[in-house]
Amino acid sequence: MQQAIPSQTALRVALRRAAHQLYDRPLVFNDPVAVPILGPAYAEELRRTPRERPFSIAMRAHLVARSRYAEDNLARSVANEVRQYVLLGAGLDTFAYRNPWPQLHVFEVDHPATQQWKRELLQASAIAIPDNLTYAPVDFECESLPDRLQQAGFDPAQLSFFAWLGVVPYLTLPAFRATVAFIAARPAGSGITLDYGQPRSALPFREQLAHDSLADRVKLAGEPFQLFFTPPEIAAEFSTFHSIEDIGAPEINARYYSNRKDELRIRGTAGRFFSAWL
Ligand SMILES: C[S@@+](CC[C@H](N)C(=O)[O-])C[C@H]1O[C@@H](n2cnc3c(N)ncnc32)[C@H](O)[C@@H]1O
Repeated sequence: MQQAIPSQTALRVALRRAAHQLYDRPLVFNDPVAVPILGPAYAEELRRTPRERPFSIAMRAHLVARSRYAEDNLARSVANEVRQYVLLGAGLDTFAYRNPWPQLHVFEVDHPATQQWKRELLQASAIAIPDNLTYAPVDFECESLPDRLQQAGFDPAQLSFFAWLGVVPYLTLPAFRATVAFIAARPAGSGITLDYGQPRSALPFREQLAHDSLADRVKLAGEPFQLFFTPPEIAAEFSTFHSIEDIGAPEINARYYSNRKDELRIRGTAGRFFSAWL
């Protein structure tokens, strides 16, 4: 990521979540803060966000399902006594501003420039910062996540749940592994949800073209893709975890998009959702 510039991909993802609130019924991911957080600054961009093209529909389906998947897993964690939720690369995620569990402390970890921009948007839209939210600015590539979280008041001895949505492809392998090692050292009962992309070489030819187009766009935005895994490769990275779930389009569509009358569903094999527990 470019050091001083807020994440452009975080904006694109947030526009899709907001478009879902406005245009899709029934909602797969109910997020009443998704539109307000963009505020007047991005109202025109939201209006122009493509919503009818097949690629846009599939991309929106992917993005809202992954947030829903994370919050479904979070709900299971909270029922099992998890009391800390760490959003790694939080972007414009709005969970903290609609958190229904007062006992759940949220830590929003993000690149400093992105986090600063988010806080300005929250202020501009008069969205209150809850007491059970703490910001922890961190650059995963060159700063220590454990140190920054500890400074923010994170309790390493408590059960925690981590969400790492839309971040892994942008990291280097050493930065990814350092973060996994930190999570792997948390107490039993902690867990993680993330999404990842399969390498170009593992994709059918038509999907390789879609991959190239998306890779070109994120590179232009200053956030090039760097890291992909096949399912066996990512399972190996989480070998000390249990109850691993790694699902692709057929499973995600069956879980979240069955019985719809519209075209909202995931296509292709590139993106996968993953969760694992300690
Ligand atoms: C595609 S956005 C996803 C945001 C959010 N998780 C969501 O789903 O809306 C990628 C996020 O990763 C963060 N990110 C990318 N590289 C990072 C790094 N090296 N250190 C910290 N955050 C990083 C960006 O700031 C951005 O918030």
